[in-house]
Amino acid sequence: MAQSPESALSGSIDSYQVEDRKFAPSPEFTASARLTDPSIYTDGEDYENFWATQARDLITWFEDFHTTLEWDLPNARWFVGGKLNVAYNCLDRHVEAGIGDRVAIYFEGEPGDTRTITYAELLDDVKRFTRVLINLGVETGDRVCIYMPMIPEAAVAMLACARLGAPHTLVFGGFSPDSLIDRINDAEAVVAITADAGYRKGKPSGLKTNIDVALADCPTIRNVVVVNRCDTDVEMTEGRDLWWHDLMADADADADAVPVDSEHLLYLLYTSGTTAKPKGVMHTTGGYLTQVAWTHREVFDLKPESDIYWCSADIGWVTGHSYIVYGPLTNGASVVMYEGTPDTPRESERNGDDPAGWAKDRMWDIIERYKVTQLYTAPTAIRAFMKWGEAEPAKHDLSSLRLLGSVGEPINPEAWMWYHRNIGAERCPIVDTWWQTETGGIMITPLPGITETKPGSACRAIPGVFVEVVDDEGNEVTEGGGYLTITKPFPAMLRGVWKAPERFFDTYWSRYPGRYFAGDGARLDEDGYLWLMGRVDDVMNISGHRISTTEVESALVDHDAVAEAAVVGAADPLTGQAIYGYVILRGGNEPSEELIEEIRRHVATKLGAIARPKQVVAVTDLPKTRSGKIMRRLLRDMAEGRELGDTTTLADAGVMSQISGSSA
Ligand code: WTA
Repeated sequence: MAQSPESALSGSIDSYQVEDRKFAPSPEFTASARLTDPSIYTDGEDYENFWATQARDLITWFEDFHTTLEWDLPNARWFVGGKLNVAYNCLDRHVEAGIGDRVAIYFEGEPGDTRTITYAELLDDVKRFTRVLINLGVETGDRVCIYMPMIPEAAVAMLACARLGAPHTLVFGGFSPDSLIDRINDAEAVVAITADAGYRKGKPSGLKTNIDVALADCPTIRNVVVVNRCDTDVEMTEGRDLWWHDLMADADADADAVPVDSEHLLYLLYTSGTTAKPKGVMHTTGGYLTQVAWTHREVFDLKPESDIYWCSADIGWVTGHSYIVYGPLTNGASVVMYEGTPDTPRESERNGDDPAGWAKDRMWDIIERYKVTQLYTAPTAIRAFMKWGEAEPAKHDLSSLRLLGSVGEPINPEAWMWYHRNIGAERCPIVDTWWQTETGGIMITPLPGITETKPGSACRAIPGVFVEVVDDEGNEVTEGGGYLTITKPFPAMLRGVWKAPERFFDTYWSRYPGRYFAGDGARLDEDGYLWLMGRVDDVMNISGHRISTTEVESALVDHDAVAEAAVVGAADPLTGQAIYGYVILRGGNEPSEELIEEIRRHVATKLGAIARPKQVVAVTDLPKTRSGKIMRRLLRDMAEGRELGDTTTLADAGVMSQISGSSA
C-alpha cells in the first residue's frame, strides 16, 4: 500500500538542499561528444520508429524483425519475428570484425591479482563453457543459477547461458542459503554455478558452503560447477559437484550461438517487492539488448576504441547485468571489473592485518592504473568516499576520467557536488541515471553532451521513453510532487513476473490504469526537471539495495522470541535508508541486549548481511489503524527523530508514547 504523496515525500524534500545551479556540458566535452543535438528528443517522439532504428543499428540480427511492437497492456513484444543471439552480439561479431585483440575485461582481484581478457579470449572461454553446459544436459530454455563473486568467470557463465538460450538467474553473493532456496526453486534451475569463495575485505568469503546448505532443499539442481577462486577447502559431492577448471580442460571451444526469438527469455532476476516473496523479473532478448546498448553508448558517451569504462556495481544486481556485461560488450567496450570493496587495498599495500589501518583509496588507485575514462557508481559509495575524505582521491592522478555516473538511489546535491569537485575535477559531466530492475535499462538521465544538469536531479526521460508524474487520482502533475509513472512501452521493460502474471499486472499496471507505476515518488520543478524522491511503497533502499519491509518482518517473526514485528526504512546519512525493526517479544522473553543482538543476527542469517537491521527495539505494542494495518509512517517519523505525524487514525493513541519511551 502506498502512502499519499505528501506523507511519503515531505521528509525527503525537506532534507534536500537544492542547489540553484545548472551545469552546462563543457566545450571540451561537447567538442568530441557523440550526441550534442537536442533534436534526438524529437526523433524519440515516434518511439517505435526510433527504437526500430536503434535495434538495427546496434544489433546484428540473424533474421530481421517484421513488426516493431505488439502492445496489449501489460504485455509487450518488441521486434517481433526477429532472431538473434546476445553472446553473438557481445563477442563473435567483434572478433569477426577484426577487433578480437581489444581488451574486453580488465580484471582486478581484491588481493591485487590481475587478468586481461581480450574479446577473442572471452569468446573462446564462452564457447567452451557453453559446451560444458551442453555436456551437463542443459538445453535452450532451461534455467541456470549463478552465485558468484565478481570474477570474469561470472561473465563467462552469463554469456554461455545466453549463447545457449538458457536463461540465467544470478543471486547476489551476499545472499543467504534461504534466499538461494527461494530463487532456485521458483526458477526451477537445473545447474548452479558458483565459486569456493570470493575475496571480501581481505578474506575469502565462502559461497560454496551456502550452496551446499541450500541444495538440501533444491530438488531441481542436478549439478554444481565450482570455480576455484580462493583455494579454500570445500566439500565436493560426488556426482553432483564439478570443478570449473576440469570441465573447461575437457571441453572444446566449439559451441555455436543459438539463434533465439527476440522475445526469448534472457534472464530472471529476483527483486524485492512489497511482499515477503521476491519477484522473478523477466527480461527477454531483442528489446532488452537494444535499450541497454543504446543507453550505454549514449549516456556514457562511449568511444569503444579508446575508453576504459568502469561500473563498480556487483554483477548480481541489474546494474551489473546491463552495464558491466550486456551493454558494454554489445558496444565492444573495454570494461574494468573489480572483485572487492573500496576500503581494501591490494595485499602488497596493506598496512598490517587490521582493516582499520588500511588506506581507502582503492577506487582511485584503480582509476589511475587503468586510466579509467568513465566511472559509474552509487550515491552510497560516494557518501562513504566523502566520509573518508578528499585526501584519498587526491593521492591519485584521476585525469583520465571524462564522465561520471550515479545509480541506485537519489543522489543528494552535497554528494553530487563532492563527486563533481573531487573526482570529476569540475570537468566531467555527471549522469544521474534513474531506472529499475524492472526497466532493464536507464530511463531517466541527462545526456552528457546535451543536458544542463542540476545537482540532485536525474533531469528527464531519454528519447523514446515517456514518463509522467501523477497525483493520487492519476492526474498528471506538471509542477510539484507525485508518483512516477511510465506511459508508453519501452524495449527493455520487464515482460512479466515469473510464474505470476496476476502479480505482474497488480504490482505495476493496476494502480493507474494505462500506466506503469514505478513505486517511486518524484517532483517536477519549474523547468520540467525530475527529482526522484525514493520509494513510496514498502520497499526500502539500503545502500542502493532493494529490501522489502515485509521480507525483514517475516525474518524477524521467524525468530522464536518474536511474536510480531514492524519494519521501516528511515533516512540514514551513509546508506540512504537504514532498517529499523520494532518487535513484540513472546511472553517469557526479556528485552536484553543479547537477545536483541541475536534477533538482528537472525535476520542477517535468513536474508543476508545487507538486511541486518540497524536497530531493533522491543515494544509492547505497535501502532495500528482501526482496521489493523501497521502505521509505518509513524514508526518512520520516530526512527528519523521527527515530530510524530497525524496519529488520529491510531486504534490506541497511547501506543506511540509507549514506543518512543522504550526506544529512548
Ligand atoms: C531507486 C537499480 C533516484 C529507485 C538500477 C528505484 C533511484 C530503485 C535512482 C530501483 C536514481 C535507482 N535516483 N532513485 N538515479 N536509481 N533508484 O531495482 O527507488 O535495484 O525504484 O535497480 O532504486 O532499484 P533496483
